[in-house]
Amino acid sequence: MTDEPELFEQRPHSKIKVNTDDGPRELDIYTPEGFKVVSNLFTRSGWQQKISYEPTWLGIPIIQTPEDIVMMQELIWKVRPDVIIECGVAHGGAVVLYASMLELLGKGHVIGVDVEIRKYNRLALQSHPLSRRFTLIEGSSVEPATVDEVRRLIQPDDKVLVALDSNHTAAHVAKELRMYAPLVTPESYVVVFDGVMQVLTDAPGGSPTWDRDNPWHAVREYIEENDEFQVDPYYNRLKVTHCPGGFLKRVKKRRQ
Ligand SMILES: C[S@@+](CC[C@H](N)C(=O)[O-])C[C@H]1O[C@@H](n2cnc3c(N)ncnc32)[C@H](O)[C@@H]1O
Repeated sequence: MTDEPELFEQRPHSKIKVNTDDGPRELDIYTPEGFKVVSNLFTRSGWQQKISYEPTWLGIPIIQTPEDIVMMQELIWKVRPDVIIECGVAHGGAVVLYASMLELLGKGHVIGVDVEIRKYNRLALQSHPLSRRFTLIEGSSVEPATVDEVRRLIQPDDKVLVALDSNHTAAHVAKELRMYAPLVTPESYVVVFDGVMQVLTDAPGGSPTWDRDNPWHAVREYIEENDEFQVDPYYNRLKVTHCPGGFLKRVKKRRQ
């Protein structure tokens, strides 16, 4: 006998009760508001269940939610960058995702920066069919020498997109924004991952300090001081995301 798919095991009612700071509320999951609340709960519960550790991209583990993967695909197809800089490589799944998009676009390369590129991750990446589309740099993303090395790989007319997904403290992301956002070209983006930490203060494995010490906090401060970038909510429209408010579009040219 064929087992029923897990989704069919239970059918929770579409009317749900949620506890909020203003007291209990009943919601219908089939309304836009119900969807928003369920997405919020799914994002937080999925973080706890480490759902973002499940996907692989062309054989390499990628630590992103499927929704964020799809949004990065849309963004890269739209911007058509010549260079994508990623701070925080880990296994390298995102480097390969971005390289695979550039391969389809027929141009460009990815620069992946990580403070530690482990031997087996490096070996898997070096032997990947898309390896000619990326360069790995080992070093802290906020070391001036690392940024210099990144800069040397960019040509003056290159269209540049940046993804920040390394150390997620507000202080570190603030430094990365100061060092890498200036490299982003007009109409392109800097994408800041893991602002979701702000709503994970109550999660097992989360921390009350994440209330302020998170990437979104760094984004908000950066945007307040810097009118060259604007948060683009379009790439959060799937609701489930680890980078709420994390898609920053360059709307003004760099000051010289
Ligand atoms: C969340 S993982 C990156 C996941 C990866 N972007 C992906 O999509 O699969 C964070 C990575 O940031 C790296 N990291 C931590 N501090 C760093 C720093 N100061 N500079 C560069 N990388 C750093 C860690 O070594 C780790 O590999």
